[in-house]
Amino acid sequence: MVDYSKATDLFSPTRLGAIKVSNRIAMAPLTRSRVGDDGVPGDLQATYYAQRAGAGLIVSEATNISAEGRGYAMTPGIWTDEQVAGWRKVTDAVHAAGGKIVNQLWHVGRISHVDLQPNGQLPVAPSAIAAEGKAFTNNGFVDFSTPRALETDEIPRIVSDYAHAAKMAKAAGFDGVEVHSANSYLLDQFIRDSTNRRTDAYGGSIENRTRLTLEVVEAVVGVWGHDRVGIRLSPTTPDAGNTPPDSNVMATYGYLIEKLNNFELAYMHFVEGDTGGSRKTPQGVDLDALRALFTGPYIGNNGYDFELAKSRRGAGLVDMVAFGRPFIGNPDLITRLRYGLALTEAPKEAYYGGGAEGYIDFAATVL
Ligand SMILES: Cc1cc2nc3c(=O)[nH]c(=O)nc-3n(C[C@H](O)[C@H](O)[C@H](O)COP(=O)(O)O)c2cc1C
Repeated sequence: MVDYSKATDLFSPTRLGAIKVSNRIAMAPLTRSRVGDDGVPGDLQATYYAQRAGAGLIVSEATNISAEGRGYAMTPGIWTDEQVAGWRKVTDAVHAAGGKIVNQLWHVGRISHVDLQPNGQLPVAPSAIAAEGKAFTNNGFVDFSTPRALETDEIPRIVSDYAHAAKMAKAAGFDGVEVHSANSYLLDQFIRDSTNRRTDAYGGSIENRTRLTLEVVEAVVGVWGHDRVGIRLSPTTPDAGNTPPDSNVMATYGYLIEKLNNFELAYMHFVEGDTGGSRKTPQGVDLDALRALFTGPYIGNNGYDFELAKSRRGAGLVDMVAFGRPFIGNPDLITRLRYGLALTEAPKEAYYGGGAEGYIDFAATVL
């Protein structure tokens, strides 16, 4: 049997800030929509994540920081004691299996619907611009609601909701948290001029549009310490309905990354290209040049196969590689990559919703 551990250091330990990881392959965050309306994960999730604990780092599925931050039915939360107890089962199971897991902190902003909001209230966003596309509710797919613009004096509450969720994630036994500032959710909606038309201190200039993300990072670092907080960015992923990314990706995200350096975070995690789609970037955007601005550990993701992972790691372009979809059908992905074993492709119908089927029933290889 081949063993690629001599050909690449992807299977060797490293560290992300204070988080020691057993190899350089991470499991990317994957929403699997198998949680009740209370947002409480349980034994099913504990089994699923423990099966994947061979990853150097697991980034949990995106986890709502508040009732208002929710935009998809059947997704977990991290703001109530019951949710913390549910996640504790998951973190204990992952740790017992020798893995590390961080919690991805999520507020969807305008990517929501009144049916998913407390008391049927309007979702909140930087500006009252509806996203094109459909929200996944308990009643099926419906058009996104037009959000209301957050008042300036509400923004400290948003920041404190992140801090609260970060504290709850700590109580749940995670190894750290990943601030979800990617994929056109609330923080990204503030960053990009296509979705942020504000005229206060949180809109207009790049400095203003990146302010909320930086305030959130500061608050979360205040809870966890800088070396257990990561951040996820997707500078070129179009919004739902294909709203173009920011009109000046290099300047906007370049400024943000330079500011993030001041925190000395555990890591920065990029979706390279269009999340779940092409790795191509718009003309004038060089994601490797943006990445090079970051002074800490870097996790690259999006459309990687083992060849690309080896070559980008070999060229020193990534510290770790995150695989998303391959982890759905291959709980033992690390073993399969290391020994050149065939991968199982999970059916797309299994991605979201349902129970154990298509979730915890993918077999690990017996060597
Ligand atoms: C089923 C599914 C759920 C996802 N859920 C999340 C999520 O919760 N948070 C997030 O940042 N990205 C999410 N993504 C994006 C993945 O983390 C990843 O960026 C994408 O799948 C590309 O990586 P891959 O080519 O290795 O799959 C999801 C993707 C899929 C397919």
